[in-house]
Amino acid sequence: MIKSLRGMNDILSEDYERFTHFIDTATEIAKKYGYHFIETPLLEETALFKRSVGESSDIVGKEMYQFIDKGDNDVCLRPEGTAGVVRAFIQKKLDKAGGVHRFFYHGPMFRYERPQKGRLREFHQFGVESFGVESVYEDATMIMMVSDILKKLGIGYRLQLNSLGDNNCMPDYRNKLVKFVQECGEGICEDCVRRLDTNPIRVLDCKNGSCQTLYEGAPKLINSLCQNCDDDFESLKKILDNNGVAYEIDTNLVRGLDYYSKTAFEFVSDNIGSQSAIAGGGRYDRLVEFLDGKPTPAVGFAMGIERLMELIVMPDITRDGYYIGAMDDEAIDLVIKLTQDKRKTDKTTVDYKAKNLQKHLKAADKVNAKFCCVIGSNEIKNGTIWVKNLEEKTEEVIDMKEF
Ligand code: HAM
Repeated sequence: MIKSLRGMNDILSEDYERFTHFIDTATEIAKKYGYHFIETPLLEETALFKRSVGESSDIVGKEMYQFIDKGDNDVCLRPEGTAGVVRAFIQKKLDKAGGVHRFFYHGPMFRYERPQKGRLREFHQFGVESFGVESVYEDATMIMMVSDILKKLGIGYRLQLNSLGDNNCMPDYRNKLVKFVQECGEGICEDCVRRLDTNPIRVLDCKNGSCQTLYEGAPKLINSLCQNCDDDFESLKKILDNNGVAYEIDTNLVRGLDYYSKTAFEFVSDNIGSQSAIAGGGRYDRLVEFLDGKPTPAVGFAMGIERLMELIVMPDITRDGYYIGAMDDEAIDLVIKLTQDKRKTDKTTVDYKAKNLQKHLKAADKVNAKFCCVIGSNEIKNGTIWVKNLEEKTEEVIDMKEF
């Protein structure tokens, strides 16, 4: 039997209800915040991710579904959504047009990771990207949007915040950190030795226990911010305080993608095991320029839908629409006709086989219909239809013309 690939799941039945409930809720909130839907291809040139997510990141270095296509192009399945949206933004010349552009998207992402609970090779994200707003109010608003989505879904969270500085303060900090790590000597792991050459600040989120102990006294990025970054970070905290959004400062939060500057944030849950990040994002003011667009400030986030599906508190199921069934074979044609009419206005389920009333009532209950309607030879003779309201537990015989 052919099975799905490791780390890739089918989504159906109850899972699908959770999946669509999440997408519907997040979409409704994103629209209220003024965001517009964008769809970008699943397959892009590999160079796009190398230049944005970064060659030193684990995502590009180890996890890409990359191949040469029949036209000899080096392509890969998207590991995340931001790079494609930025490419589309530049390709459609929205950078040159100026103004503010806000997008949301959802869809599958692919990372060749070691699968475990909460860590898949094909997973789904809901993300938003905002272009053209430099103000830190946009960062705060975005964080409040994630918070609104999580609250609406009944999901508790902890919000972790950091600032990654900008071109003014990051280089100095990076030098200080490199010097510190070099002085740690032989004790650091092989990955950190490599990081020192490629992207030193990633040492801060090294998962190796002995590295973590060694770096306890490392200089903190938050203490090396320039005036502008420091002011923005203070403002961000104040706006969140004023709006009742609780947060923790995590000076080691550096994110796994290279394009960030200034605000970086992650939402984590304590109820889903070790893969606890349910959303992450931040500011990426240099990325548009880096991908050959006109310099444009930008900020965004993405949420991991599979991780959230474990946490969603589903609303009580409400009965909806009609179920129509035949008691005798001769009623089936009429049942089909009535079903097609009803479908113009309501959700309607039909059964093509004649059955007894008990079986129809059971089937109507299973599909959560509000009304179970049946027609047999008696009803055909009298021009009527038998209807039971499954919510109020009442039943009546009504004239076919009034149905
Ligand atoms: P990310 O932190 O790599 O950021 O991913 C965002 C979310 O996707 C994570 O918090 C997690 O919930 C989910 N996720 C990531 N990898 C997996 C996996 N292997 N299995 C299941 N879920 C996963 C980004 O992708 C950025 N593009 C976010 C962003 C948008 N930044 C600015 N704009």
